[in-house]
Amino acid sequence: MYINFWYPICTTAELTGAAPVRAQVLCLPFVAFRDAGGQARVLADTCVHRGGALHKGKVVNGRLACPYHGWQFDGGGRCALIPSLGADGNIPARAKVDSYPVVERYGIVFAFLGDLAEAERPALYEVREYGQPGWRAGLVTFDIDAYFERSIENGLDPVHNEFVHTLQGNIRFRPDRMQVTSDEWSSTVFVKMDPPKKGTTQLENLRNDDNPEHFGASSGHYGANTLITRISLSKDNVFVQYFFEQPIDEGHTRIFFLNMRNCMLEEQNDARMQQINMAIAEEDIAVITRLNPVRTPEASTKEVLVVGDECIGQYRRHLGEWERRGWRLDLAALRANAGDVACAIPSPARRTEKNWVLDPAPLLPAGAVAAVGAASAATPEGRG
Ligand code: FES
Ligand SMILES: [Fe+2]
Repeated sequence: MYINFWYPICTTAELTGAAPVRAQVLCLPFVAFRDAGGQARVLADTCVHRGGALHKGKVVNGRLACPYHGWQFDGGGRCALIPSLGADGNIPARAKVDSYPVVERYGIVFAFLGDLAEAERPALYEVREYGQPGWRAGLVTFDIDAYFERSIENGLDPVHNEFVHTLQGNIRFRPDRMQVTSDEWSSTVFVKMDPPKKGTTQLENLRNDDNPEHFGASSGHYGANTLITRISLSKDNVFVQYFFEQPIDEGHTRIFFLNMRNCMLEEQNDARMQQINMAIAEEDIAVITRLNPVRTPEASTKEVLVVGDECIGQYRRHLGEWERRGWRLDLAALRANAGDVACAIPSPARRTEKNWVLDPAPLLPAGAVAAVGAASAATPEGRG
């Protein structure tokens, strides 16, 4: 798991009431609430007084009040009131919690979980179709018992489709028609396929033109935890699916699934589209929740990557680069400390201020380790 990316915390719909919302991300607890101006704010969910779970508290005048002794934290994480000391009590400089940059978009509250200054941060992924005329959005969240990297890699894998997905009928993967591209934050695999015969699958029945040139798919990752899948059945039947993934812990992931479509725009089609999308997702879930080991192996020798796995290799190369920058959590150290030491993902303010009470979450040392699986992924076996 990696710090310094935008992670979905909760949906806008979940944060409409007065109650704060808890989320576990990167194995650590966070709390979202709305300040007096209605802005979504995200803090580390651990009170620095004596460890209260802030999400169990209340929002009072736009501040989050701890349920234990009522200390009130503003959206910036600073303690603004300690009730036992009175209104003009002297508030210690250390009475503050980490507060994370927030962007609320696509019906999702995202927080930047890391300490990079604004100019250094990767941008939140821009969903170009969102809010555009001729496009309709659907958002659903679901939890899977799988490690997030396994889910992202499943999306980057064009070979599994014909084995896992019944809906797509007789579409075959053609290695000669696959193209993989990469840039600083993302990698994408494009696949050109022959469309299935008319009437053979539900997918085919959605097409409204017969031009095979309009039939194809691509999928890619952006950063560590965003997956983009574009399915073009015909010119005016395009579905773009975004998985904004929230790694809860090593065995659980919450997926914020935003799907955009440029056809069947009427509201009455939403339920059917969602049912088709979730039926496809369930087929993936059935496989990726049973992978052994649960997490991606550390050593490239523990798998055999072949043609078709190139985009997965590119994803792992990116993860390796982010690990070299010192962004990868040391999960073993985090686990070893659990119960004895409270940690927080370091927020940007830690770069400029002192006096932090919680330990920063342990990270693997920068520059230390080669990219996971990079060697074999770069030159898949079986390349003709
Ligand atoms: S533990 Fe939060 S106010 Fe005491
Ligand atoms: Fe799939």
